[in-house]
Amino acid sequence: MILEIKTFPSEILREKSEPVTEFNEELHKLLDNMFETMYEAKGIGLAAPQVGVLKRLFVLDDLSGPNNKNPMEIINPEFLVKEGEILEEEGCLSIPGEYAYVKRFMNVKVKYQDRYGNEKVVEASDRLARILQHESDHLEGTLFIDRLTSTKRDTIKKHIKKRMHQGDYQVNE
Ligand code: CO
Repeated sequence: MILEIKTFPSEILREKSEPVTEFNEELHKLLDNMFETMYEAKGIGLAAPQVGVLKRLFVLDDLSGPNNKNPMEIINPEFLVKEGEILEEEGCLSIPGEYAYVKRFMNVKVKYQDRYGNEKVVEASDRLARILQHESDHLEGTLFIDRLTSTKRDTIKKHIKKRMHQGDYQVNE
């Protein structure tokens, strides 16, 4: 099932998400629907708050691997290592059509749980590390525009306003 993706400036995107404690059918359904929604939107990551669910989980696919497919589901993430620095362009399904260069850690190590509650660890760099950081930010109510200078953030906000007037930006509360 395709879920509605909440868009900036929806208030729910600003909330802090709660840890997942039950690894049940309802959780599996949510994860499956989030994958379907992310692929349909041609995104590479989607966090639960973006579909209006304040739980600490996200799905991603950095399109790496032999078949250009690398689906991962990350529940209750915790960063064990964050090091280095890299500046790259970033976007977000909740701020469609807007992009900016964001500084992130180059290498990360993240502890998380899978849909059955098993503990796992992933080490990542570059693009995958960036996705893990971007999606984890969503669980704290943080958006990539919050990581820009106020000047750049204002430019994006003004651009969104202009697009709203032109009917070219849809706000999903
Ligand atoms: Co995002």
